[in-house]
Amino acid sequence: MHELEVLIEAQYPLIYLVSFEEERAEEILASVAQKSNRRLFIWTITHGIVEYGKPRTLTQHNTVSPQAAIEWAVRQKDSAILIFKDLHAFIENPEVTRWLRDAVAGFKALQKTLVLLSPVQTIPVELEKDVVVVEYPLPNMQQIDEVLDVHLKKNGRGRRLTTENREKLLKAALGLTRDEADKVYRKAEVMSGQLTEGEVDIVLSEKKQIIRRNGILEYLEVEDTLDSVGGLEELKRWLTQRADAFTERARQYGLPQPKGMLILGVPGCGKSLIAKTTARLWGLPLLRLDIGRVYDGSMVGRSEANLRNALRVAESVSPAVLFIDEVDKAFAGAGGSADSDGGTSSRIFGSFLTWMQEKASPVFVIATANGIDRLPSEFLRKGRFDEIFFVDLPNYEERKEIFRIHLAKRRKDIARFDMDQFISTCDGFSGAEIEQGIVAAMYEAFAQGREFNQLDILAALKSTQPLSRTHHEQVNSLREWARQRARPAASSVAEYQRMEF
Ligand SMILES: Nc1ncnc2c1ncn2[C@@H]1O[C@H](COP(=O)(O)OP(=O)(O)O)[C@@H](O)[C@H]1O
Ligand SMILES: [Mg+2]
Repeated sequence: MHELEVLIEAQYPLIYLVSFEEERAEEILASVAQKSNRRLFIWTITHGIVEYGKPRTLTQHNTVSPQAAIEWAVRQKDSAILIFKDLHAFIENPEVTRWLRDAVAGFKALQKTLVLLSPVQTIPVELEKDVVVVEYPLPNMQQIDEVLDVHLKKNGRGRRLTTENREKLLKAALGLTRDEADKVYRKAEVMSGQLTEGEVDIVLSEKKQIIRRNGILEYLEVEDTLDSVGGLEELKRWLTQRADAFTERARQYGLPQPKGMLILGVPGCGKSLIAKTTARLWGLPLLRLDIGRVYDGSMVGRSEANLRNALRVAESVSPAVLFIDEVDKAFAGAGGSADSDGGTSSRIFGSFLTWMQEKASPVFVIATANGIDRLPSEFLRKGRFDEIFFVDLPNYEERKEIFRIHLAKRRKDIARFDMDQFISTCDGFSGAEIEQGIVAAMYEAFAQGREFNQLDILAALKSTQPLSRTHHEQVNSLREWARQRARPAASSVAEYQRMEF
Protein backbone atom coordinates (compact mmCIF):
# COMPACT_ATOMS: atom_id res chain seq x y z
CA MET A 1 0.00 0.00 0.00
CA HIS A 2 1.20 3.45 -0.79
CA GLU A 3 2.19 5.60 2.18
CA LEU A 4 -0.30 8.26 1.11
CA GLU A 5 -3.10 5.75 1.11
CA VAL A 6 -2.22 4.66 4.62
CA LEU A 7 -2.23 8.22 5.91
CA ILE A 8 -5.48 9.11 4.22
CA GLU A 9 -7.16 5.98 5.44
CA ALA A 10 -5.88 6.75 8.93
CA GLN A 11 -7.74 10.08 8.68
CA TYR A 12 -4.74 12.35 8.71
CA PRO A 13 -6.29 15.76 8.07
CA LEU A 14 -3.23 17.51 6.65
CA ILE A 15 -0.53 15.96 4.49
CA TYR A 16 2.35 17.83 2.92
CA LEU A 17 3.56 16.07 -0.21
CA VAL A 18 6.94 17.27 -1.42
CA SER A 19 7.27 16.58 -5.11
CA PHE A 20 7.88 18.09 -8.51
CA GLU A 21 5.85 15.42 -10.17
CA GLU A 22 2.29 16.72 -9.96
CA GLU A 23 0.88 14.34 -12.47
CA ARG A 24 2.12 11.21 -10.74
CA ALA A 25 0.89 12.53 -7.41
CA GLU A 26 -2.54 13.29 -8.82
CA GLU A 27 -2.81 9.82 -10.32
CA ILE A 28 -2.02 8.15 -7.03
CA LEU A 29 -4.41 10.38 -5.10
CA ALA A 30 -7.12 9.79 -7.67
CA SER A 31 -6.85 6.07 -7.19
CA VAL A 32 -6.87 6.45 -3.41
CA ALA A 33 -9.96 8.66 -3.69
CA GLN A 34 -11.70 6.15 -5.86
CA LYS A 35 -10.89 3.22 -3.57
CA SER A 36 -12.08 5.07 -0.50
CA ASN A 37 -15.14 6.53 -2.18
CA ARG A 38 -14.15 10.14 -1.78
CA ARG A 39 -14.35 13.07 -4.11
CA LEU A 40 -11.11 14.64 -5.27
CA PHE A 41 -10.68 18.39 -5.66
CA ILE A 42 -7.71 20.36 -6.83
CA TRP A 43 -6.95 23.94 -5.98
CA THR A 44 -4.60 26.19 -7.93
CA ILE A 45 -4.17 29.94 -7.65
CA THR A 46 -5.13 30.24 -11.30
CA HIS A 47 -8.36 28.25 -11.34
CA GLY A 48 -9.52 27.95 -7.77
CA ILE A 49 -11.09 24.62 -6.79
CA VAL A 50 -11.97 22.24 -9.58
CA GLU A 51 -13.14 18.68 -9.19
CA TYR A 52 -10.68 16.15 -10.56
CA GLY A 53 -11.56 15.05 -14.07
CA LYS A 54 -14.01 17.92 -14.60
CA PRO A 55 -13.27 20.78 -17.01
CA ARG A 56 -11.54 23.77 -15.52
CA THR A 57 -14.41 26.02 -16.38
CA LEU A 58 -16.47 24.24 -13.77
CA THR A 59 -14.58 25.95 -11.00
CA GLN A 60 -16.17 26.26 -7.58
CA HIS A 61 -17.47 29.76 -7.15
CA ASN A 62 -15.06 32.24 -5.62
CA THR A 63 -12.33 29.86 -4.54
CA VAL A 64 -9.29 31.43 -6.15
CA SER A 65 -7.89 33.03 -3.03
CA PRO A 66 -6.26 30.49 -0.71
CA GLN A 67 -8.32 31.66 2.26
CA ALA A 68 -11.60 31.30 0.39
CA ALA A 69 -10.55 27.91 -0.93
CA ILE A 70 -9.73 26.52 2.50
CA GLU A 71 -12.95 27.97 3.85
CA TRP A 72 -14.80 26.19 1.07
CA ALA A 73 -12.97 22.97 1.97
CA VAL A 74 -14.06 23.31 5.58
CA ARG A 75 -17.68 23.71 4.60
CA GLN A 76 -17.63 20.87 2.10
CA LYS A 77 -19.91 18.09 3.43
CA ASP A 78 -18.84 15.09 1.35
CA SER A 79 -15.84 13.00 2.23
CA ALA A 80 -13.07 14.23 0.04
CA ILE A 81 -9.40 14.65 -0.69
CA LEU A 82 -8.42 18.21 -1.52
CA ILE A 83 -5.12 18.84 -3.25
CA PHE A 84 -3.69 22.33 -2.86
CA LYS A 85 -0.97 22.98 -5.39
CA ASP A 86 1.85 25.34 -4.49
CA LEU A 87 0.22 26.68 -1.38
CA HIS A 88 3.75 27.14 0.01
CA ALA A 89 3.82 30.62 -1.49
CA PHE A 90 0.92 31.70 0.74
CA ILE A 91 1.28 29.45 3.72
CA GLU A 92 3.17 31.99 5.82
CA ASN A 93 0.21 34.35 5.63
CA PRO A 94 -1.34 34.40 9.14
CA GLU A 95 -4.82 34.14 7.76
CA VAL A 96 -3.98 31.10 5.66
CA THR A 97 -2.22 29.45 8.58
CA ARG A 98 -5.23 30.10 10.80
CA TRP A 99 -7.66 28.70 8.25
CA LEU A 100 -5.55 25.59 7.89
CA ARG A 101 -5.53 25.07 11.63
CA ASP A 102 -9.29 25.42 11.77
CA ALA A 103 -9.61 23.02 8.90
CA VAL A 104 -7.45 20.45 10.66
CA ALA A 105 -9.51 20.75 13.82
CA GLY A 106 -12.73 20.37 11.88
CA PHE A 107 -11.54 17.52 9.68
CA LYS A 108 -10.50 15.17 12.41
CA ALA A 109 -13.84 13.48 12.70
CA LEU A 110 -14.64 13.64 9.01
CA GLN A 111 -13.32 11.82 6.02
CA LYS A 112 -11.57 14.85 4.66
CA THR A 113 -7.91 15.32 3.92
CA LEU A 114 -6.00 18.31 2.67
CA VAL A 115 -2.93 17.44 0.62
CA LEU A 116 -0.51 20.29 0.13
CA LEU A 117 1.39 19.42 -3.03
CA SER A 118 4.46 21.44 -3.71
CA PRO A 119 8.09 21.03 -4.72
CA VAL A 120 9.25 23.10 -1.76
CA GLN A 121 8.60 22.34 1.85
CA THR A 122 7.50 25.33 3.91
CA ILE A 123 5.69 24.75 7.17
CA PRO A 124 4.95 27.53 9.65
CA VAL A 125 5.60 26.62 13.29
CA GLU A 126 1.91 26.89 14.14
CA LEU A 127 1.22 23.95 11.83
CA GLU A 128 4.19 21.79 12.74
CA LYS A 129 2.24 19.45 14.96
CA ASP A 130 -0.64 19.00 12.57
CA VAL A 131 1.08 18.27 9.35
CA VAL A 132 2.68 15.05 8.19
CA VAL A 133 5.30 15.31 5.48
CA VAL A 134 5.57 12.75 2.72
CA GLU A 135 8.41 12.77 0.25
CA TYR A 136 7.74 11.37 -3.11
CA PRO A 137 9.02 7.81 -3.49
CA LEU A 138 12.03 7.22 -5.69
CA PRO A 139 11.29 5.80 -9.11
CA ASN A 140 11.00 2.03 -9.41
CA MET A 141 12.58 -0.19 -12.06
CA GLN A 142 9.87 0.50 -14.56
CA GLN A 143 10.12 4.25 -14.18
CA ILE A 144 13.89 4.12 -14.50
CA ASP A 145 13.38 2.01 -17.58
CA GLU A 146 11.51 4.91 -19.11
CA VAL A 147 14.54 7.12 -18.51
CA LEU A 148 16.92 4.52 -19.92
CA ASP A 149 14.68 3.99 -22.89
CA VAL A 150 15.04 7.61 -23.94
CA HIS A 151 18.82 7.25 -23.97
CA LEU A 152 18.78 3.96 -25.82
CA LYS A 153 16.33 5.16 -28.46
CA LYS A 154 18.35 8.30 -28.99
CA ASN A 155 21.32 6.39 -30.30
CA GLY A 156 19.40 3.38 -31.53
CA ARG A 157 21.26 0.89 -29.36
CA GLY A 158 18.35 -0.52 -27.42
CA ARG A 159 17.93 -3.51 -29.65
CA ARG A 160 21.41 -4.82 -29.07
CA LEU A 161 20.94 -4.93 -25.31
CA THR A 162 19.74 -8.26 -23.90
CA THR A 163 17.00 -8.23 -21.30
CA GLU A 164 19.48 -9.36 -18.72
CA ASN A 165 21.95 -6.58 -19.42
CA ARG A 166 19.22 -4.02 -19.60
CA GLU A 167 18.17 -5.11 -16.13
CA LYS A 168 21.73 -4.72 -14.88
CA LEU A 169 21.80 -1.15 -16.14
CA LEU A 170 18.47 -0.45 -14.47
CA LYS A 171 19.43 -2.04 -11.17
CA ALA A 172 22.62 -0.01 -11.16
CA ALA A 173 20.63 3.23 -11.22
CA LEU A 174 17.97 2.11 -8.76
CA GLY A 175 17.89 4.35 -5.71
CA LEU A 176 18.45 7.49 -7.69
CA THR A 177 15.85 10.08 -8.56
CA ARG A 178 14.69 10.35 -12.14
CA ASP A 179 16.98 13.31 -12.73
CA GLU A 180 19.97 11.62 -11.19
CA ALA A 181 19.41 8.46 -13.20
CA ASP A 182 19.18 10.55 -16.33
CA LYS A 183 22.47 12.31 -15.55
CA VAL A 184 24.25 9.08 -14.68
CA TYR A 185 23.22 7.43 -17.94
CA ARG A 186 24.22 10.49 -19.89
CA LYS A 187 27.60 10.58 -18.21
CA ALA A 188 28.19 6.90 -18.93
CA GLU A 189 27.33 7.52 -22.58
CA VAL A 190 29.68 10.47 -22.79
CA MET A 191 32.50 8.56 -21.14
CA SER A 192 32.40 5.49 -23.31
CA GLY A 193 30.30 6.48 -26.28
CA GLN A 194 27.73 3.79 -25.63
CA LEU A 195 25.33 2.38 -23.09
CA THR A 196 25.68 -1.37 -22.71
CA GLU A 197 26.43 -3.85 -19.95
CA GLY A 198 30.01 -2.55 -20.03
CA GLU A 199 28.77 0.74 -18.61
CA VAL A 200 27.18 -0.80 -15.53
CA ASP A 201 30.34 -0.10 -13.55
CA ILE A 202 30.33 3.56 -14.53
CA VAL A 203 26.71 3.86 -13.45
CA LEU A 204 27.48 2.11 -10.17
CA SER A 205 30.47 4.27 -9.36
CA GLU A 206 28.44 7.38 -10.15
CA LYS A 207 25.81 6.10 -7.77
CA LYS A 208 28.49 5.70 -5.11
CA GLN A 209 29.40 9.34 -5.62
CA ILE A 210 25.81 10.39 -5.21
CA ILE A 211 25.45 8.30 -2.08
CA ARG A 212 28.60 9.92 -0.70
CA ARG A 213 27.15 13.31 -1.34
CA ASN A 214 23.88 12.62 0.43
CA GLY A 215 25.87 12.68 3.67
CA ILE A 216 23.76 10.21 5.63
CA LEU A 217 24.89 7.01 4.05
CA GLU A 218 28.53 6.37 3.46
CA TYR A 219 30.21 3.76 1.31
CA LEU A 220 33.06 2.20 3.25
CA GLU A 221 35.98 0.48 1.60
CA VAL A 222 37.54 -1.86 4.11
CA GLU A 223 41.04 -3.30 3.98
CA ASP A 224 40.78 -5.54 7.03
CA THR A 225 39.66 -9.15 6.86
CA LEU A 226 38.45 -11.48 9.58
CA ASP A 227 42.12 -12.42 10.13
CA SER A 228 42.82 -8.99 11.56
CA VAL A 229 40.38 -9.67 14.36
CA GLY A 230 41.73 -11.58 17.34
CA GLY A 231 39.45 -13.91 19.28
CA LEU A 232 35.66 -13.72 18.86
CA GLU A 233 35.66 -17.27 17.50
CA GLU A 234 31.95 -17.91 17.91
CA LEU A 235 31.03 -14.72 16.13
CA LYS A 236 33.48 -15.50 13.33
CA ARG A 237 32.05 -18.97 12.95
CA TRP A 238 28.51 -17.60 12.81
CA LEU A 239 29.48 -15.07 10.15
CA THR A 240 31.46 -17.53 8.07
CA GLN A 241 28.56 -19.93 8.16
CA ARG A 242 26.36 -17.26 6.61
CA ALA A 243 28.73 -16.27 3.83
CA ASP A 244 26.36 -17.55 1.15
CA ALA A 245 23.18 -16.57 2.91
CA PHE A 246 22.19 -14.00 0.30
CA THR A 247 22.54 -16.24 -2.71
CA GLU A 248 19.73 -17.57 -4.82
CA ARG A 249 20.92 -21.02 -3.79
CA ALA A 250 20.13 -20.25 -0.15
CA ARG A 251 16.62 -19.08 -1.10
CA GLN A 252 15.98 -22.24 -3.06
CA TYR A 253 17.19 -24.30 -0.14
CA GLY A 254 14.43 -22.64 1.84
CA LEU A 255 16.56 -20.49 4.12
CA PRO A 256 15.14 -17.18 5.29
CA GLN A 257 17.01 -14.01 4.45
CA PRO A 258 19.21 -13.00 7.41
CA LYS A 259 17.95 -9.75 8.97
CA GLY A 260 20.80 -8.51 11.03
CA MET A 261 22.73 -8.72 14.23
CA LEU A 262 23.47 -6.60 17.23
CA ILE A 263 26.99 -6.64 18.63
CA LEU A 264 27.05 -5.48 22.17
CA GLY A 265 30.03 -5.20 24.42
CA VAL A 266 32.95 -3.63 26.18
CA PRO A 267 34.40 -0.64 24.28
CA GLY A 268 37.57 -1.23 22.28
CA CYS A 269 37.15 -4.98 21.89
CA GLY A 270 36.63 -5.16 18.14
CA LYS A 271 32.90 -4.65 17.60
CA SER A 272 33.24 -2.01 14.93
CA LEU A 273 36.21 -3.83 13.45
CA ILE A 274 34.41 -7.12 12.94
CA ALA A 275 31.28 -5.39 11.70
CA LYS A 276 33.31 -3.77 8.95
CA THR A 277 35.07 -6.95 7.93
CA THR A 278 31.78 -8.81 7.56
CA ALA A 279 30.81 -7.10 4.34
CA ARG A 280 34.13 -8.05 2.86
CA LEU A 281 33.77 -11.64 4.05
CA TRP A 282 30.39 -11.83 2.36
CA GLY A 283 31.44 -9.89 -0.71
CA LEU A 284 28.77 -7.25 -0.23
CA PRO A 285 28.94 -3.45 -0.32
CA LEU A 286 29.25 -1.84 3.10
CA LEU A 287 27.12 1.19 3.84
CA ARG A 288 27.37 3.08 7.06
CA LEU A 289 24.25 4.81 8.25
CA ASP A 290 25.01 7.79 10.44
CA ILE A 291 21.88 8.29 12.51
CA GLY A 292 23.26 11.53 13.91
CA ARG A 293 23.12 13.03 10.45
CA VAL A 294 19.55 11.90 9.93
CA TYR A 295 18.38 14.42 12.51
CA ASP A 296 17.43 17.71 10.97
CA GLY A 297 15.45 20.10 13.08
CA SER A 298 15.10 22.70 10.35
CA MET A 299 11.73 21.43 9.21
CA VAL A 300 9.09 19.11 10.53
CA GLY A 301 9.29 15.66 9.06
CA ARG A 302 12.69 16.34 7.57
CA SER A 303 14.46 13.77 9.75
CA GLU A 304 11.96 11.04 8.93
CA ALA A 305 12.28 11.83 5.24
CA ASN A 306 16.08 11.63 5.55
CA LEU A 307 15.89 8.22 7.15
CA ARG A 308 13.41 6.92 4.61
CA ASN A 309 15.57 8.08 1.76
CA ALA A 310 18.72 6.57 3.21
CA LEU A 311 17.03 3.22 3.76
CA ARG A 312 15.62 3.28 0.27
CA VAL A 313 19.05 3.89 -1.17
CA ALA A 314 20.45 1.04 0.93
CA GLU A 315 17.75 -1.24 -0.44
CA SER A 316 18.58 -0.16 -3.94
CA VAL A 317 22.15 -1.42 -3.67
CA SER A 318 21.19 -4.61 -1.87
CA PRO A 319 22.30 -7.21 -1.15
CA ALA A 320 24.32 -5.04 1.16
CA VAL A 321 25.45 -4.67 4.74
CA LEU A 322 24.07 -1.66 6.56
CA PHE A 323 26.36 -0.76 9.41
CA ILE A 324 25.06 1.37 12.27
CA ASP A 325 27.83 2.00 14.74
CA GLU A 326 27.03 2.77 18.37
CA VAL A 327 23.25 2.63 18.08
CA ASP A 328 22.96 3.19 21.80
CA LYS A 329 24.26 6.71 21.24
CA ALA A 330 22.24 7.24 18.10
CA PHE A 331 18.93 6.35 19.68
CA ALA A 332 19.69 7.57 23.18
CA GLY A 333 16.70 9.93 23.15
CA ALA A 334 14.21 7.32 22.00
CA GLY A 335 12.07 5.17 24.19
CA GLY A 336 12.67 7.12 27.36
CA SER A 337 10.17 9.46 28.87
CA ALA A 338 12.46 12.44 28.38
CA ASP A 339 11.02 13.91 25.23
CA SER A 340 13.74 16.49 24.82
CA ASP A 341 13.54 16.84 21.05
CA GLY A 342 9.80 16.94 20.56
CA GLY A 343 9.74 13.19 20.02
CA THR A 344 11.89 13.22 16.90
CA SER A 345 14.26 10.51 18.10
CA SER A 346 11.35 8.32 19.13
CA ARG A 347 9.77 8.74 15.74
CA ILE A 348 13.04 8.04 13.94
CA PHE A 349 13.58 4.98 16.08
CA GLY A 350 10.03 3.82 15.40
CA SER A 351 10.45 4.26 11.67
CA PHE A 352 13.67 2.33 11.78
CA LEU A 353 12.15 -0.59 13.67
CA THR A 354 9.21 -0.70 11.32
CA TRP A 355 11.55 -0.79 8.38
CA MET A 356 13.55 -3.63 9.93
CA GLN A 357 10.39 -5.52 10.63
CA GLU A 358 9.00 -5.19 7.15
CA LYS A 359 11.99 -5.12 4.89
CA ALA A 360 11.92 -7.75 2.23
CA SER A 361 15.12 -6.68 0.56
CA PRO A 362 18.42 -8.31 1.48
CA VAL A 363 19.88 -5.55 3.60
CA PHE A 364 21.75 -7.04 6.54
CA VAL A 365 21.86 -4.68 9.48
CA ILE A 366 24.87 -4.77 11.78
CA ALA A 367 24.42 -2.57 14.79
CA THR A 368 26.96 -2.14 17.56
CA ALA A 369 26.47 -0.83 21.06
CA ASN A 370 28.85 -0.12 23.92
CA GLY A 371 26.23 -0.46 26.61
CA ILE A 372 22.62 -1.24 27.29
CA ASP A 373 21.67 1.67 29.53
CA ARG A 374 20.71 3.94 26.69
CA LEU A 375 19.54 1.28 24.31
CA PRO A 376 15.74 1.29 23.90
CA SER A 377 14.48 -2.08 25.06
CA GLU A 378 12.43 -2.66 21.90
CA PHE A 379 15.74 -3.13 20.20
CA LEU A 380 16.57 -6.16 22.29
CA ARG A 381 13.32 -7.97 21.83
CA LYS A 382 13.65 -11.50 20.49
CA GLY A 383 13.32 -11.74 16.76
CA ARG A 384 14.38 -8.18 16.07
CA PHE A 385 17.85 -9.34 15.10
CA ASP A 386 18.90 -12.83 14.12
CA GLU A 387 21.36 -12.78 16.99
CA ILE A 388 22.65 -10.54 19.75
CA PHE A 389 26.34 -11.11 20.40
CA PHE A 390 28.25 -10.05 23.43
CA VAL A 391 31.88 -9.10 22.99
CA ASP A 392 33.82 -9.35 26.22
CA LEU A 393 37.38 -8.39 27.12
CA PRO A 394 39.83 -10.76 25.47
CA ASN A 395 41.09 -13.67 27.58
CA TYR A 396 44.70 -14.83 27.75
CA GLU A 397 44.79 -16.65 24.42
CA GLU A 398 42.87 -13.91 22.66
CA ARG A 399 45.17 -11.21 23.93
CA LYS A 400 48.06 -13.22 22.55
CA GLU A 401 46.39 -13.29 19.17
CA ILE A 402 45.71 -9.57 19.27
CA PHE A 403 49.37 -8.87 20.11
CA ARG A 404 50.45 -11.05 17.24
CA ILE A 405 48.10 -9.36 14.81
CA HIS A 406 49.15 -5.85 15.71
CA LEU A 407 52.87 -6.56 15.94
CA ALA A 408 52.79 -8.44 12.63
CA LYS A 409 51.06 -5.46 11.02
CA ARG A 410 54.08 -3.33 11.92
CA ARG A 411 57.12 -5.62 11.94
CA LYS A 412 58.21 -8.81 10.25
CA ASP A 413 60.38 -10.29 13.02
CA ILE A 414 57.91 -10.64 15.85
CA ALA A 415 59.64 -13.78 17.17
CA ARG A 416 61.92 -11.48 19.14
CA PHE A 417 59.06 -10.60 21.51
CA ASP A 418 58.09 -12.67 24.52
CA MET A 419 54.32 -12.60 24.20
CA ASP A 420 53.59 -14.36 27.47
CA GLN A 421 55.29 -11.62 29.39
CA PHE A 422 53.10 -8.98 27.72
CA ILE A 423 49.96 -10.90 28.30
CA SER A 424 50.36 -11.35 32.00
CA THR A 425 50.97 -7.61 32.25
CA CYS A 426 47.77 -6.63 30.49
CA ASP A 427 45.00 -8.38 32.31
CA GLY A 428 41.69 -6.62 31.64
CA PHE A 429 42.99 -4.77 28.57
CA SER A 430 40.86 -4.36 25.50
CA GLY A 431 42.17 -4.93 21.99
CA ALA A 432 42.27 -1.20 21.43
CA GLU A 433 44.34 -0.71 24.59
CA ILE A 434 46.78 -3.38 23.51
CA GLU A 435 47.16 -1.69 20.15
CA GLN A 436 47.65 1.69 21.83
CA GLY A 437 50.34 0.15 24.05
CA ILE A 438 52.30 -1.02 21.03
CA VAL A 439 51.95 2.34 19.30
CA ALA A 440 53.03 4.22 22.44
CA ALA A 441 56.12 2.01 22.71
CA MET A 442 56.96 2.74 19.09
CA TYR A 443 56.67 6.50 19.62
CA GLU A 444 58.94 6.28 22.61
CA ALA A 445 61.67 4.39 20.74
CA PHE A 446 61.22 6.45 17.58
CA ALA A 447 61.80 9.67 19.52
CA GLN A 448 65.07 8.19 20.78
CA GLY A 449 66.06 7.16 17.29
CA ARG A 450 66.03 3.38 17.85
CA GLU A 451 63.96 0.26 17.24
CA PHE A 452 61.32 -0.53 19.87
CA ASN A 453 61.74 -3.59 22.04
CA GLN A 454 60.19 -5.79 24.70
CA LEU A 455 60.85 -3.31 27.49
CA ASP A 456 59.26 -0.39 25.66
CA ILE A 457 56.04 -2.31 25.27
CA LEU A 458 56.07 -3.53 28.85
CA ALA A 459 56.57 0.02 30.09
CA ALA A 460 53.72 1.31 27.93
CA LEU A 461 51.39 -1.41 29.17
CA LYS A 462 52.29 -0.76 32.78
CA SER A 463 51.51 2.91 32.50
CA THR A 464 48.08 2.22 31.00
CA GLN A 465 44.97 2.27 33.13
CA PRO A 466 42.53 0.07 31.25
CA LEU A 467 38.91 1.04 31.04
CA SER A 468 37.91 -2.20 32.75
CA ARG A 469 39.70 -0.90 35.84
CA THR A 470 38.66 2.75 35.66
CA HIS A 471 35.06 1.82 34.82
CA HIS A 472 34.98 -1.44 36.69
CA GLU A 473 31.31 -1.27 37.65
CA GLN A 474 29.94 -0.46 34.21
CA VAL A 475 31.92 -3.25 32.62
CA ASN A 476 30.79 -5.73 35.24
CA SER A 477 27.14 -4.83 35.04
CA LEU A 478 27.23 -5.07 31.26
CA ARG A 479 28.77 -8.54 31.56
CA GLU A 480 26.21 -9.55 34.11
CA TRP A 481 23.40 -8.42 31.85
CA ALA A 482 24.84 -10.09 28.78
CA ARG A 483 25.50 -13.38 30.50
CA GLN A 484 21.76 -14.02 30.56
CA ARG A 485 20.64 -12.45 27.35
CA ALA A 486 23.27 -12.46 24.66
CA ARG A 487 25.36 -15.01 22.90
CA PRO A 488 29.07 -14.85 23.70
CA ALA A 489 31.15 -13.80 20.71
CA ALA A 490 34.10 -15.78 22.00
CA SER A 491 33.94 -19.54 22.33
CA SER A 492 31.61 -20.51 25.13
CA VAL A 493 34.20 -22.50 27.08
CA ALA A 494 36.58 -19.60 27.24
CA GLU A 495 33.69 -17.35 28.13
CA TYR A 496 32.73 -19.59 31.00
CA GLN A 497 36.24 -19.56 32.40
CA ARG A 498 36.45 -15.83 32.09
CA MET A 499 33.19 -15.33 33.90
CA GLU A 500 34.39 -17.48 36.77
CA PHE A 501 37.56 -15.51 37.05
N1 LIG B 1 39.72 -8.38 18.91
C1 LIG B 1 40.56 -7.51 18.31
N2 LIG B 1 41.48 -7.95 17.43
C2 LIG B 1 42.31 -7.10 16.82
N3 LIG B 1 42.29 -5.77 17.01
C3 LIG B 1 41.42 -5.26 17.88
C4 LIG B 1 40.49 -6.10 18.56
N4 LIG B 1 39.72 -5.34 19.35
C5 LIG B 1 40.13 -4.05 19.16
N5 LIG B 1 41.15 -4.00 18.27
C6 LIG B 1 41.86 -2.80 17.81
O1 LIG B 1 41.27 -1.67 18.41
C7 LIG B 1 40.66 -0.83 17.44
C8 LIG B 1 39.35 -0.29 17.98
O2 LIG B 1 38.44 -1.34 18.15
P1 LIG B 1 36.90 -1.19 17.76
O3 LIG B 1 36.54 -2.30 16.86
O4 LIG B 1 36.65 0.17 17.28
O5 LIG B 1 36.25 -1.40 19.19
P2 LIG B 1 34.72 -1.25 19.61
O6 LIG B 1 33.94 -0.94 18.41
O7 LIG B 1 34.40 -2.58 20.22
O8 LIG B 1 34.71 -0.17 20.63
C9 LIG B 1 40.48 -1.71 16.24
O9 LIG B 1 40.46 -0.96 15.05
C10 LIG B 1 41.67 -2.63 16.31
O10 LIG B 1 42.80 -2.03 15.77
MG1 LIG C 1 33.09 0.87 18.03
